[in-house]
Amino acid sequence: MVKSEWRESFFRRGFVKLSPIMDARGGDAHRAHLLGAVSGTVVEVGAGTGTSFRHYGAAVDSVVAVEPDAELRAIAETAARSADATITVTDGTAETLPVASGSCDWVVCSLVLCTVPDQRAAFAEFARVLRPGGRLAFYEHVRSNHPVIATMQDALTPAWSALAGGCHPNRDTLAAITSAGFEIESVDRFGFSPHPAAPAFAHISGTARLGSA
Ligand SMILES: C[S@@+](CC[C@H](N)C(=O)[O-])C[C@H]1O[C@@H](n2cnc3c(N)ncnc32)[C@H](O)[C@@H]1O
Repeated sequence: MVKSEWRESFFRRGFVKLSPIMDARGGDAHRAHLLGAVSGTVVEVGAGTGTSFRHYGAAVDSVVAVEPDAELRAIAETAARSADATITVTDGTAETLPVASGSCDWVVCSLVLCTVPDQRAAFAEFARVLRPGGRLAFYEHVRSNHPVIATMQDALTPAWSALAGGCHPNRDTLAAITSAGFEIESVDRFGFSPHPAAPAFAHISGTARLGSA
């Protein structure tokens, strides 16, 4: 196995184990709160194992769930079959979403904007697929407001990113959403520890509307 494959496999196995632990510690409630607001035609970006699927409610017409990792996609396909909503799981990336321009009411990002290689390209793609006035729902861990912790996050990022599937713990994702032309409608900022052995990291959860500019 070459080094990059080993890293991918390490991340995938770790994430599949961590995900239910994280959800039991509050992640599931965070997802439920976020997705309760979502309706109409939805594209979920980087769906992972499909752990959010059970939270799409009756107001959702359909979901295209995009996931680039084939093994995670296979798990998500099983989750899609037992969800209430109509969910199609497909290959793709945040930067190349396999949906038509102006066709979506919502883009959903859950713990994925830390990982996309190029946030600006991802936001440009979200703007392409959203209808005018369409909205982004986001639930993300982000850069600390505390300068010492943020500096530690900067130092940790290269090694962490190599082991954790490209995740960047030091991104100011709220500022990036705003810079990309989305207007924040609501945002909660809170500390959340995803595992008993992990400290509480800064998280944000909220919605933003695509600006008219
Ligand atoms: C930490 S996991 C989160 C999965 C899921 N959204 C959740 O909340 O459990 C990050 C996910 O982003 C996916 N990913 C990585 N690069 C991506 C990209 N460029 N575009 C879309 N998804 C990506 C990974 O394969 C992985 O499933």
